[in-house]
Amino acid sequence: MPLLLLCRRLLLLLLLVAASHGYAAGDTNGYDSSMCLKEPMACGNVSISYPFYLSSEIKDLNGYSSSYCGYPGLAIECNDGKTMMQLDGPYKYLVKNISYGSYGNDSYGNVSLADPVVLEDRSSCPKVDHNVTIPWFSWLYFPGMSVDYLVFFLDCSFPAPIVRPPATYQLTCGNIGAGQSFVLPKDKVPEYNIYYGSLSQACNKIIEVPVLSDNSGDSEWSSDEYGQVLRQGFQLAWNESKRSANCAQCEQSNGRCGYNQEGNFIGCLCPDGREHSRNCSGSGKPFVSSTTLLLCKGGHR
Ligand SMILES: *[C@@H]1O[C@H](CO)[C@@H](O)[C@H](O)[C@H]1NC(C)=O
Ligand SMILES: *[C@@H]1O[C@H](CO)[C@@H](O)[C@H](O)[C@H]1NC(C)=O
Ligand SMILES: *[C@@H]1O[C@H](CO)[C@@H](O)[C@H](O)[C@H]1NC(C)=O
Ligand SMILES: *[C@@H]1O[C@H](CO)[C@@H](O)[C@H](O)[C@H]1NC(C)=O
Ligand SMILES: *[C@@H]1O[C@H](CO)[C@@H](O)[C@H](O)[C@H]1NC(C)=O
Ligand SMILES: *[C@@H]1O[C@H](CO)[C@@H](O)[C@H](O)[C@H]1NC(C)=O
Ligand SMILES: *[C@@H]1O[C@H](CO)[C@@H](O)[C@H](O)[C@H]1NC(C)=O
Repeated sequence: MPLLLLCRRLLLLLLLVAASHGYAAGDTNGYDSSMCLKEPMACGNVSISYPFYLSSEIKDLNGYSSSYCGYPGLAIECNDGKTMMQLDGPYKYLVKNISYGSYGNDSYGNVSLADPVVLEDRSSCPKVDHNVTIPWFSWLYFPGMSVDYLVFFLDCSFPAPIVRPPATYQLTCGNIGAGQSFVLPKDKVPEYNIYYGSLSQACNKIIEVPVLSDNSGDSEWSSDEYGQVLRQGFQLAWNESKRSANCAQCEQSNGRCGYNQEGNFIGCLCPDGREHSRNCSGSGKPFVSSTTLLLCKGGHR
C-alpha cells in the first residue's frame, strides 16, 4: 500500500514538473491520441497500421476539421470484421489484404481491393458500371507491375465504317444493355487503335476496370468468364514519395504525421500525447518514465 501511495505522489509530481517545463513553450498542444493507430489493429483478416488510419477517428486538429493521423487517402473503415476503403465517388471496396514494407525509416506497401458488388454477384458476368478512380488527394497509385485493365465497351452499334472487335471479345452474358458489348484486355486495345476512337462513338459506355496483371503469359481468361478475374480484385500501392520534409523528420523522431482534408501536413503527433510542429525530439519528451509506470502497475496487485 505505501508503494502505491508513493507511486501516485511520484506520478503527480512528475506531471507537475512536466507541466511547468516543456509544455509552456507554446509550440506543443495535446491531441486526441485515439486518432493514431499505435499498434497494428486486426479487422477481420486484415492488419491495419499507420500510415493507414480509421475513418471513425477523423478529428479536429489545429482548427482543421476532418484531420487524421496517417497519409492522405489511406482511410479505413472497419465494420463487423469487414475492412473497407472508399476511393473516388461513393464506391467502397473490400480490403482483402495490406502488405507492409519498409526501407530505413521509409514505408511502402500495397493494398489488395475488390468490388464487394462483384464479390457478392457470384455469376460469371457480374455487372460493371463504373470506373475505378483514385481521389486527387490520395497517395495511392496503381502499381505498374501488378495492374492490368479490362476495358468494357458497352451497348454498341456499328454503322458502316466502324469495325467491330473480334467475336472472341463479345460479351454473351451479363446485364449489359440493348446493343452489343465487348470486353478487351487493355493491352489488346492498341492494335485496334484505328477504331478505338470510333468505338467510343459506337458504344454508349466505356468502363475501365483494374485487375491483377497476369505474369504467367496468356491466361484462361475469356469474355464470358470475366467475373473470376474481377473477383481477384486489384492492387493499389503507396510509398513515401509524396511525404514532405516535415513529415519525414516527424516520423524519424517516432512521431506520426497529421494531415488535413486537403492533404497538407499540419502537425507531428508524438507518442507523449503532444503535437509538435516538426519533430518529437526537444521539448515534450515524456517525463513519466516507463519504470515508474511499471512500478505503479505492480503496486496495484
Ligand atoms: C478471412 O480469411 C478466410 C480464409 O482465407 C476467408 O475464408 C474469409 O472469408 C476471410 N474473411 C474476410 C472477412 O475476408
Ligand atoms: C497479406 O499480406 C501479408 C504481408 O503483410 C503477406 O505475408 C501475405 O502473404 C498476404 N496475403 C495474401 C493472401 O496476399
Ligand atoms: C532513421 O531515423 C533515425 C532517427 O530516429 C536515424 O538515426 C536514422 O539514420 C534513420 N535511418 C535512415 C536509413 O534514414
Ligand atoms: C506488394 O505486392 C507484390 C505482389 O504484386 C508483392 O510481391 C509484394 O511483396 C507486396 N508488398 C510490398 C510491401 O510491396
Ligand atoms: C472510364 O474511363 C475511360 C478511360 O479514361 C473513359 O474513356 C470513360 O469515359 C470512363 N467511363 C465513365 C463511365 O466515366
Ligand atoms: C512511389 O510512388 C510514386 C507515385 O506516387 C511512383 O511513381 C513511384 O514509382 C514510387 N516509387 C517506388 C520506389 O515504388
Ligand atoms: C527537432 O526539432 C528541433 C527544433 O524544434 C531541432 O533543433 C532538432 O534538430 C530536430 N531534430 C531532428 C532529428 O530533426
